Amino acid sequence: MKFIHLTDTHVNSGDRLLYGANPARRLAQAVDSINVEHGDAAFVIVTGDMTHWGDAGAYAAFRDKISRLPMPVHLMVGNHDDTAAFAEYFPNAPRDSNGFVQFTLDTPHGRAICLDTKSPGTHAGSYCQARLDWLSARLQETDDPVLLFMHHPPFKVGICAMDAIMMQDADAFHDVVAPPTKPAR
Ligand SMILES: [Fe+2]
Repeated sequence: MKFIHLTDTHVNSGDRLLYGANPARRLAQAVDSINVEHGDAAFVIVTGDMTHWGDAGAYAAFRDKISRLPMPVHLMVGNHDDTAAFAEYFPNAPRDSNGFVQFTLDTPHGRAICLDTKSPGTHAGSYCQARLDWLSARLQETDDPVLLFMHHPPFKVGICAMDAIMMQDADAFHDVVAPPTKPAR
């Protein structure tokens, strides 16, 4: 199975530059490349920070660029996204019963579980009890291999600025994903 993973497209409205680059144009180039070289991909997953400022114009620009992808595109939120603004432009995007932007994709090679690690008011990630309960239930539904997709890593990656905003409550997350084994008697 081939799928495409895009992340942190950080699109701005009005073709505004970001650190000297044009994220909307770069996304358009990525879409061109996918269509020319990987048009046979089963789906595309975008793991958050679709936009830089989370404004309506940026979601409109983002939607315009990805609309040229012929395969299903699965969208996740990051710390730079605004869930309400996102939902205005993608009203059919799947959400869990608490409104978090998380969902599963069952593929021939296992279950992809896409998590919402966004924490309003901070750039740092978090994963509250309600989300842990949802994840636990989704894991218990399958014996297939699992692929986890998430914006904030639950471990340090060695980049100070990134590690400062990693998932803050990672221990509880690890307990759900890989429960500690009981010592043998
Ligand atoms: Fe981010």
